[in-house]
Amino acid sequence: MARIFITGSAGGLGLNAARALMQQGHDVVLHARNSFRLADAGLLRERAAGAVVGNLADFDETVRVAEQAGRYGPFDAVIHNAGVYSGSEVLAVNTVAPYVLTALLARPRRLVYLSSGMHRSGTPDLQGIDWTDAARRSGAYSDSKLYVTALAAAVASRWPDVESNAVDPGWVPTRMGGRGAPDDLELGHVTQVWLATHSGGDRESGGYWFHQQRREPHPAVKDPGFQAELLEALERHTGIALR
Ligand SMILES: NC(=O)c1ccc[n+]([C@@H]2O[C@H](COP(=O)([O-])OP(=O)(O)OC[C@H]3O[C@@H](n4cnc5c(N)ncnc54)[C@H](OP(=O)(O)O)[C@@H]3O)[C@@H](O)[C@H]2O)c1
Repeated sequence: MARIFITGSAGGLGLNAARALMQQGHDVVLHARNSFRLADAGLLRERAAGAVVGNLADFDETVRVAEQAGRYGPFDAVIHNAGVYSGSEVLAVNTVAPYVLTALLARPRRLVYLSSGMHRSGTPDLQGIDWTDAARRSGAYSDSKLYVTALAAAVASRWPDVESNAVDPGWVPTRMGGRGAPDDLELGHVTQVWLATHSGGDRESGGYWFHQQRREPHPAVKDPGFQAELLEALERHTGIALR
């Protein structure tokens, strides 16, 4: 049995992953942006090992999420699932928050970061990046997913004791994916659950996965120079180092 923390787990893929993990007998700590959204987790909230709240677009609240979650830890796995598709908060929620939580929480055995096939059209250009206001940055979602995928790979290369992987869940019909999304919602959380609960075998750390198959990510993801540049930019912005 594993102890697993999932961000953004009051709805969508995070909630589905939480439900599947609890059905398998794991202890799950939920996260929602506030107590009203946490209530949407319904019965799952009562069965959870714990729950924390905080807006991941806000730096101070993200630090408090790490503090709250830390009280339920240490975790065997953390799934960095929370994400937004558009608006000024895209980089803060999709990239900065996973970085801050990764740096502040005690190292789990396994880390899973939600990426997207759209990361492939991201640009590895961090020059003058404004992490707090992505509204005017075209392709900000793709950029945010490229960066979080590179973060997963950077963590894998720096922390050999941790399995760190990124997952494309497919284009699935959640609130973000929209009703017309073509991929299977039932498969949307399966790879995250698998990566969060299994070790060894032919799976290596630092992978980019789609439906339990390893896929080739954007070349910048594996570029040690870009990984270092990304970590430096995030450390400069947050004042928090990844040790
Ligand atoms: N659905 C797809 O087709 C698809 C494809 C590729 C990748 N993904 C990725 O999969 C992950 C899950 O997405 P989903 O499809 O399940 O979308 P969703 O239904 O919109 O769920 C997103 C989750 O993130 C939470 N969240 C967003 N902003 C937050 C903030 N500022 N503070 C705290 N929590 C916040 C949401 O909370 P609220 O409900 O309170 O907003 C919600 O729980 C995301 O990282 C997304 O980028 C999804």
